[in-house]
Amino acid sequence: MNAPVRTRDAAYVEIEGLRRTFDVSRPWLNRMIERQPRQILRAVDGVAFTIRRGETFALVGESGSGKSTVARMVVGLLPPTGGDVRITGISMTDPRQAVERRRLRRRIQMIFQDPYASMNPRWRVRRIVAEPIRAFNLIQGEAAITGRVGELLTLVGLHPDDGAKYPHEFSGGQRQRVAIARALASEAEFLVGDEPTSALDVSVQAQILNLMRDLQDRLGLTYLFISHNLAVVRHMASRIGVMYLGRVVEIADGRALFTAPKHPYTRMLLDAVPDIGMTGRQRIPVSGEIPNPIDPPSGCAFNPRCPFAKERCRTEVPELIEGVACHAFQERRLPL
Ligand SMILES: Nc1ncnc2c1ncn2[C@@H]1O[C@H](COP(=O)(O)OP(=O)(O)O)[C@@H](O)[C@H]1O
Ligand code: SF4
Ligand SMILES: [Mg+2]
Repeated sequence: MNAPVRTRDAAYVEIEGLRRTFDVSRPWLNRMIERQPRQILRAVDGVAFTIRRGETFALVGESGSGKSTVARMVVGLLPPTGGDVRITGISMTDPRQAVERRRLRRRIQMIFQDPYASMNPRWRVRRIVAEPIRAFNLIQGEAAITGRVGELLTLVGLHPDDGAKYPHEFSGGQRQRVAIARALASEAEFLVGDEPTSALDVSVQAQILNLMRDLQDRLGLTYLFISHNLAVVRHMASRIGVMYLGRVVEIADGRALFTAPKHPYTRMLLDAVPDIGMTGRQRIPVSGEIPNPIDPPSGCAFNPRCPFAKERCRTEVPELIEGVACHAFQERRLPL
């Protein structure tokens, strides 16, 4: 059989039917005494999307919607319960591709909300940034490594002399720059940012977002960018996936999502952002809270909060069709 032909604009990341459950049951003895069943939480329940090389795909949604769980499965930190992630065609789960996957690993790096937690506080920054270069044996000789670390610090807007400092001597924004320099040190081409700016002041957030965009232009990086805040992804994302209780409810181009949101949940999220201009459509007030994921509502999980819910919404899970998972949208009964 012929090998599959990969065209130049083939997806860089392909995610299919991705699922992850967590057993959150009480200990066995408690369950026996209290006669409670096992409790399974569906954190991610059938997520599919693709990311093209060089683009930024953003995942947004309220806390608890499953964004971090998707991110951890994409980078291979957490095994999926079902489905698969393929990056440049290499499966993140298939045991037969373990060798290719090991080679791919250093090209994929994650940036977390709190970079301090992943840095050895007793190491100077130059050692922190050099660590992947040494671990993967990318450059030989101390002088060459020092030179490369200086280049990387400059690339992220720091000074080569900053390498002599310790992480605690930096501000939160500067530490995030160090984290990005360290990610680039391993010659990463795909960065997964899980709320990378959420802990920063608004003005510092903007600086880090600008840096990430600038690096993307210069280095051709591909991003999966995760945020609970739609305003943050607005100027970052080529495409956006909106998550609700473990499912993607809408996927659209960034511009389309902001100018013509379709899913009622997307509209509600947008209406919660004060500085995004209304386009004359009916405002959906933010109401209700995200339900308990251990016992989610039947049918469309958004139905208790949705002003357009009808009987079908309480029994039938809507499929993602043409980028929208909503019965009212398919039935053309949503106001424009
Ligand atoms: N290791 C875990 N064990 C049990 N439940 C988890 C675990 N990780 C995440 N969850 C649950 O899965 C759901 C999704 O979590 P998460 O992916 O962190 O969402 P988000 O990043 O969108 O806030 C939440 O209900 C969370 O409590
Ligand atoms: S499927 Fe029904 S409950 Fe869910 S978002 Fe659409 S109209 Fe609302
Ligand atoms: Mg999270």
